[in-house]
Amino acid sequence: MIPGAARRAGAAALGASLACLAAGSTAALTVATPAAAPLRIGIIGTGHIGGTLARLWVAAGHEVLISSRHPDELQGLAASLGPRARVGTPRDAALFGEVVLVSVPYGALPQVGRDLKAELAGKIVLDTCNPYPSRDGEMAVEARKVSTGVADPQFLPGVRLVRAFNAINSGDLSREAHRAGEPVAIPLAGDDAQALAVAERLVRDAGFAPVVVGPLSRAREFDVGTPVYTRLMTAPQLRQALGLK
Ligand SMILES: NC(=O)c1ccc[n+]([C@@H]2O[C@H](COP(=O)([O-])OP(=O)(O)OC[C@H]3O[C@@H](n4cnc5c(N)ncnc54)[C@H](OP(=O)(O)O)[C@@H]3O)[C@@H](O)[C@H]2O)c1
Repeated sequence: MIPGAARRAGAAALGASLACLAAGSTAALTVATPAAAPLRIGIIGTGHIGGTLARLWVAAGHEVLISSRHPDELQGLAASLGPRARVGTPRDAALFGEVVLVSVPYGALPQVGRDLKAELAGKIVLDTCNPYPSRDGEMAVEARKVSTGVADPQFLPGVRLVRAFNAINSGDLSREAHRAGEPVAIPLAGDDAQALAVAERLVRDAGFAPVVVGPLSRAREFDVGTPVYTRLMTAPQLRQALGLK
């Protein structure tokens, strides 16, 4: 969870980037105008990763619902994001989103999947969650063994799951978005072609280059501890490292 001070600091940084948008730099205008109709994105877990992606997607023109088990704590962040952001509970986020980002501690995934099974059924879900035994306990040991691409569909049954944004640190996610030159690559894995296409779009809109690695069974190739994990490669570099065409 983002503590109050960090949330306030994030809001200040956000204010600066929104001021930049208002100033109308060419890059900012490009970012603010989505090529297709904006999406409604529900965010479950508005922490380091979820909060950063909320900011990037709002700047790209999407509508977000940021959520918390304590929604009042997100009012300041929502206010700084502007009218395209609203606040609610995780259930509100699951209901609101055509696309739902799930970005909670890995140990919370089974509970999120159980509690919101009906609300998430059939939805495109981008899953950033990484198993850390020290934080998440024994279930993370098992997930590391079988890989997230095998474990996570069991925790989130009935969704159109895409592993996304799990292999970049939150600081880099914020700093490297829309960087000059070749963008940083974000590896994706999923079994649903349409869900992957939406994830590719949202990676681009966040200021990165999507690289579809393959079905969920290949998510293990960019799980925690792999050679490409958090390495900030460009798309050609990532494709070469993973032996993709
Ligand atoms: N930080 C990174 O650099 C990074 C990079 C790649 C992947 N990841 C992975 O992405 C996930 C999120 O990481 P993060 O660093 O953004 O985490 P974080 O800052 O700790 O935020 C996680 C959020 O999850 C919410 N949450 C916790 N338990 C929940 C539950 N039972 N139900 C609903 N919401 C719950 C908390 O919100 P409330 O308490 O407000 O409800 C919290 O704000 C983790 O699995 C992490 O391993 C992190």
